[in-house]
This record gives sequence, structure tokens and C-alpha cells, in this order.
Amino acid sequence: MLSEKLLTAINDQINFEIHSALIYKAMQAYFEAEDLPGMANWMDVQFQEEMGHAEKMFHFVCDAGSRVKMLAMDEPCNDYSSPLDAFQKALEHEQIVTGRINNLMNIAQEEKNHAAQIFLQWFVTEQIEEEASVGYIIAQLKRVEGDGRGLIMVDQELAKRVFTPIAAE
Ligand code: FEO
Repeated sequence: MLSEKLLTAINDQINFEIHSALIYKAMQAYFEAEDLPGMANWMDVQFQEEMGHAEKMFHFVCDAGSRVKMLAMDEPCNDYSSPLDAFQKALEHEQIVTGRINNLMNIAQEEKNHAAQIFLQWFVTEQIEEEASVGYIIAQLKRVEGDGRGLIMVDQELAKRVFTPIAAE
């Protein structure tokens, strides 16, 4: 069983991961409407990854003998001024997630819950990759700003991203 404090915190994060998925699905819709299929694909893969994160935490809570509670969610942002704006908002969001994961780890450490610490380690590492991959795209978009052909090349690059389920990683 998880302590009430840790259960509440992980439960909030499960819901936040699903909220993250909604944010990326809204970004996908923006890119679909902008006729940038590669960026739309990247966001769709991100959507699936976030659902995978939620699923991984969901099963951890169940396996620990506790119960998950689904919560109401805020509407995600549906409007972006440019591709760069969308990816910058994605990075800001991932930085919030990183802070939340670190907070979960702090609680697990305070409670000396070793199983939770080992479990959360995966997410700590994952956040490094999440921020790095979005940061790389932002750097590319800044380089090609105002250059339509450059934007198309970035879009073609992002079309290659493929979803890999967590269990198969
Ligand atoms: Fe689930 Fe993008 O962090």
C-alpha cells in the first residue's frame, strides 16, 4: 500500500499525464490544420507517449494495492501563433512535468519507499529525454524562422518519429 500522501501525489500525476496527452492532441490538431503533417505526427506520438506514462503509473498504483481516481481536466490550449510557439509551450509544459516528477521522488525519499523510488527513477530519466527532444526541435525552428523551405524540411524530419510502447523500449 502507498501512503495517503504518496498515493494522492501519484494519482494527481496520472491525471496530469492524461492532461499532457490532451495538450499534445490539441497541438496535433493545430499542425493538421496548418498542413504540417510531420509535426502533427510528432505530436500524435507524444500523445501516445503521455498515455503510456499515465498507464505505467496507473498499474504501479494498482499493483501496490491502492486505487486510482480519475479527476476532471482543464481544457488544453487549442490556439498557437506559430509552430515555434507550439513547441515552446510544449517545452514549458515538460519543465512543469519535470518539477512534478522530482517532487514525487522527494516524497518517496522522505517516506523511504524504496519501490516507489526505483519506479520513479524511470520517469526522472525520461524527463531528461523529453526536454532534450523538444529543445532540439525549438533550436531547429529558430534556425529556419521565416524560411518556408526550411520549415518543410523540419516537418519532413518530424514525420519519421515512430511510437514505441514503453514495455518494448
Ligand atoms: Fe509524461 Fe512528457 O511527460
